[in-house]
Amino acid sequence: MTKVLIFNGSPRKKGNTSVLIKECVRAINDSSKEAEIFFLNDMTIKSCQFCDWCIKNNALSCVQKDDMNNLYPKLLESDVIVLASPIFWFSVSAQMKLFIDRLYALHGKDGYVLTQKKIATILVYGDSNVDRSGVNNAIGSIEDLIRYMKSENIGIVHGTAYKIGDAEKNKELMSRAYELGSIISK
Ligand SMILES: Cc1cc2nc3c(=O)[nH]c(=O)nc-3n(C[C@H](O)[C@H](O)[C@H](O)COP(=O)(O)O)c2cc1C
Repeated sequence: MTKVLIFNGSPRKKGNTSVLIKECVRAINDSSKEAEIFFLNDMTIKSCQFCDWCIKNNALSCVQKDDMNNLYPKLLESDVIVLASPIFWFSVSAQMKLFIDRLYALHGKDGYVLTQKKIATILVYGDSNVDRSGVNNAIGSIEDLIRYMKSENIGIVHGTAYKIGDAEKNKELMSRAYELGSIISK
């Protein structure tokens, strides 16, 4: 069974990010893959303290005993990782950034070990003007992260939706989210 992990960086359980994830998962569920969704806002994920306990101990986990330590083994065993976030102040949400910072713990003694994954991305923003929304900053950061992880970028879906319910009305965005699920299912 191919393992797909989906990380939702929105604070709104019924928000646009959740709707787009659901649409993506609809395509994944039509295939033989299994998707697990993590709502980061409900999890305890503290900020990376750059203490290097992880590296000094070759631990592949963190000295801070919070929810991140359950995620490290799952991440290492996964095949596909989906990063889904609203744009907050011209980048990914704080919830998503905390999660990404804590991926630092996956530096082993011989280098970074969270590699060779397929990475898919979903980003949603309120501004109708893509260049004003700040999404390009988030895309740049995620592309750099994927490169650092020696992983494959299998698709970045993004579009405009502001209020709860707006994503469903953006039919083009919904169909691209479904299409991303189809790509994950290949
Ligand atoms: C604190 C905050 C900051 C935001 N910053 C931006 C922004 O920089 N650019 C933008 O286009 N939309 C911005 N938005 C709008 C959200 O990205 C948009 O409403 C999105 O659909 C929220 O996703 P959600 O429904 O999954 O929570 C911001 C919203 C909040 C609450």
